[in-house]
Amino acid sequence: MALDSLTDKTVDGESAESNVTSPATAGNEVIDLLGRPLRDLRISVTDRCNFRCPYCMPRERFGEDHTFLPRRAFLTFDEIEKVVRACMELGLEKVRITGGEPLLRPGLDDLMGRLSNLGLDLALTTNGSLLRRNAQALAAAGLTRVTVSLDALDDDVHRLMTDSDVPVADILDGIDAALEAGLEPVKVNCVIRRGINEDQAAKLVRHFQGSGVVIRFIEYMDVGRTNGWIRGEVIPSADLLSHLREEFDLVALEAERPSDVAVRLVHSDGSGEIGLISSVSEPFCGECVRARISADGHLFTCLFASGGHDLRALIHSDENDGNGEGLSAAIAAIWSRRSDRYSELRSAETSALPRIEMSYIGG
Ligand code: GTP
Ligand code: 5AD
Ligand code: SF4
Ligand code: SF4
Repeated sequence: MALDSLTDKTVDGESAESNVTSPATAGNEVIDLLGRPLRDLRISVTDRCNFRCPYCMPRERFGEDHTFLPRRAFLTFDEIEKVVRACMELGLEKVRITGGEPLLRPGLDDLMGRLSNLGLDLALTTNGSLLRRNAQALAAAGLTRVTVSLDALDDDVHRLMTDSDVPVADILDGIDAALEAGLEPVKVNCVIRRGINEDQAAKLVRHFQGSGVVIRFIEYMDVGRTNGWIRGEVIPSADLLSHLREEFDLVALEAERPSDVAVRLVHSDGSGEIGLISSVSEPFCGECVRARISADGHLFTCLFASGGHDLRALIHSDENDGNGEGLSAAIAAIWSRRSDRYSELRSAETSALPRIEMSYIGG
């Protein structure tokens, strides 16, 4: 079955059209120029990572001479909380803490403690290498679930995909620690690159079958300007699914929310779920409710944006006001002018535009 028959993720032309002239807000809810609300905020807490996945932070571009953000430029946890509260005024429902590798930021359980009191869906994306030593404290502080990046089960392929010597066993142990701490559902994200790790897909599905862990395969994207992306390295999800169906009997599930990035499938014998994230072959911009904030307080309205909006002055002046309204209104103004849909417009021309790096604003 072709993947596009499992999903219907196109821009809703009518609602887009009707909102172009008057960006609407329902109550305090903010809607962008294509009728999309702001529901999901991804917060990068550091631009550093202990891996050098060539599709994200190629070592030749993120080596010794790369200038990372000075730590003094990071938003404090207090400031992050202010931004989250301001977005909640506008309809925010979900927060994902990312990086770089977020577990490199000291004291993250303090941030979780602050955010867990706000009644949001609170998740973390991590490469898993530091999860064993952090999972219990994060769960105790109020984190509810984690997503772990894992691109291979075999150490030699993992080394190629991550350019790190961390053994796969350590990541699997981190996943076990997350399960033990109740950080569920644990999801695993696997980026597939043709010619490098496609043989790992079936192994990963087999490995996690019956474990409760959801394994999701992501099409390799042209995010940032450093990874040397070529379309030929992308395996369309439909092709990957045909390959997986040679071994597994997978049945499509309905999407839980229209904004979900993954198409979900389950093993017909009830032994688990997998997901396919087709940002290249079947873009999902039409339902994109995601904003991102870099560790130094810039707001981005698209993963492929050329630039962001510096919120720091607003966060500070807001502190002086003592109420969240200034910040909230500024974010609403930015969101209501948003018309991003990079993945749907991807072409030779858009590819030539500058794009921020994913390690800076987070996946
Ligand atoms: P939950 O539903 O909250 O569990 O998370 P999620 O499904 O939104 O997924 P996650 O944050 O783990 O994202 C998985 C991957 O999908 C990311 O690492 C990206 O590769 C891709 N992705 C997520 N959001 C976007 C987006 O807004 N645009 C594009 N093009 N890709 C995205
Ligand atoms: N293509 C697709 N996904 C990517 N990620 C990072 N770079 C890319 C890329 N070029 C995602 C992976 C990883 C998460 C942190 O970011 O899902 O698990
Ligand atoms: Fe680090 Fe994740 Fe980027 Fe890999 S994909 S370099 S683990 S931030
Ligand atoms: Fe959203 Fe931009 Fe990704 Fe499209 S490309 S889904 S607009 S973040």
